[in-house]
Amino acid sequence: MNNPYKKPVRITITGAAGQIGYQLLFRIAAGEMLGSNQPVILQLLDLPQAQNALKGVVMELNDCAFPLLQKIIYTDNLETAFKDSDICLLVGARPRSAGMERSDLLAANGKIFIAQGEAIAKYAKENVKVLVVGNPANTNALIALSAAKKVGRTNPKNYHAMLRLDHNRAAFQLSQKISRPVGSIKNLIVWGNHSPTMYADYRFAETFGDKVSDLIGNAEEIHAWNENYFLNKVGQRGAEIIAARGLSSAASAANAAMNHIRDWVYGAEDFCTMGVFTDNSLQAMYGIPAGIVCGLPCICSGNGNFEIVKNLEIDEFSKQKIAISVQELLSEKQMISDML
Ligand code: NAD
Ligand code: LMR
Repeated sequence: MNNPYKKPVRITITGAAGQIGYQLLFRIAAGEMLGSNQPVILQLLDLPQAQNALKGVVMELNDCAFPLLQKIIYTDNLETAFKDSDICLLVGARPRSAGMERSDLLAANGKIFIAQGEAIAKYAKENVKVLVVGNPANTNALIALSAAKKVGRTNPKNYHAMLRLDHNRAAFQLSQKISRPVGSIKNLIVWGNHSPTMYADYRFAETFGDKVSDLIGNAEEIHAWNENYFLNKVGQRGAEIIAARGLSSAASAANAAMNHIRDWVYGAEDFCTMGVFTDNSLQAMYGIPAGIVCGLPCICSGNGNFEIVKNLEIDEFSKQKIAISVQELLSEKQMISDML
C-alpha cells in the first residue's frame, strides 16, 4: 500500500525522451527502483528538439495512472530539471554506433556534463545522488563532479558512474558457466573503466556459500576460460549488442541504473560495483591513483552510505589488468583536462 505520509523523492532524468529513458521512467514510476511505498516526482530533461517526443512519453506516464507518481515536470531548462532533486540519472548524451569506442564520444558529450554538474550543485539538494550513465560514463562523471566542485557545494562521493551493467553481464556469464542461478552470484567486481579494458574479477565471487572459482575448474582451466572467453565477453558485450540490435543497450542499461540506485539508497549484502571518485588511499592497495572515477567494489550499508572495499588481495594478473584500465582513465582525463 502506498504510504501517503512519505515525502516524495524528486528524481531528475536527463535524456528522458531517449531509448534508455523510455525503459527507465515507467519502472521507476511503478516503484521498482525505490519501492512500492515511496512516492516519486519525475523531473525530465531533454533538448528543445526532443520536447514533443517527451510530451508524448509524459502522456503515456499519465495514462498509466501510477499511484506512486505524484508529479511530472518536463523541460529543456536545467534549473527546472534539477531544482531540489534528490537523485539525478544523467543519461542524456549521444550513444556510440558500430565501429566507435565509447571514448570517441568524449568531445561530443563531455561538455554536457559541465553544464549539468554546475546546475546540480546550484539547484539540487545538498546530498543529491548522481549516477552518470551517458558515455564515456567514468570520465563524464569526473567532468560533472569537477564542475560541481567549482560551484563550491557538492561532495564528490555523490557522483557515480554506472558499471552495474558490466557487473550484471559478468554475473550472467558466470551463472551460465557454473550452472547456478544468476541471483546466487555474490561479490563480483568490475574494476576500472566502462570500456573494453574493464576488468571483471570473479576471484571473490561466491554462490550459495561455494567459491565460484572452485566450480569453474582447476587453475589452468580457469585461467584459459578467463583470458579466452570471460573477460572478452563482458568487455565487448556493449558492442555485441550494438551489432545485433543496431542500437546500444537500453532495457538492460535502465535496469542496471535502477539496481545501482536501489543498492546505494537502501544497501545491499554483497559487493556492488560502482564507479566512484578515488582518493589516495587506493594507490598502495590497488595501484589506483587519486582523482579518477573508477569501477570499484563497494559495500552499501543503507541510508545512502557506501564504502569502497579495502585490502582485497590483488594477484599479479589482476594488478596488470587493473593498471591497463586505470591508464586508460588517466588518458581520458588528460584528453578533457580543459574541462576540469
Ligand atoms: P538516445 O539517443 O536514445 O537518447 C539520448 C537522449 O539524450 C536523446 O533524447 C537526446 O535528445 C538527449 N540529450 C542529448 N543531449 C542532451 C543534453 N545536453 N541534455 C539533455 N538531454 C540530452 O541514447 P540512449 O540509448 O538512451 O543512451 C544514452 C547514453 O547512455 C549514451 O551515451 C549511451 O552510450 C549511454 N549508455 C551507457 C551505458 C552504461 O552502462 N554506462 C549503457 C547503455 C548506454
Ligand atoms: C553498453 O555497455 O551497452 C553501453 O555502454 C552502450 C555501448 O556503447 O556499448
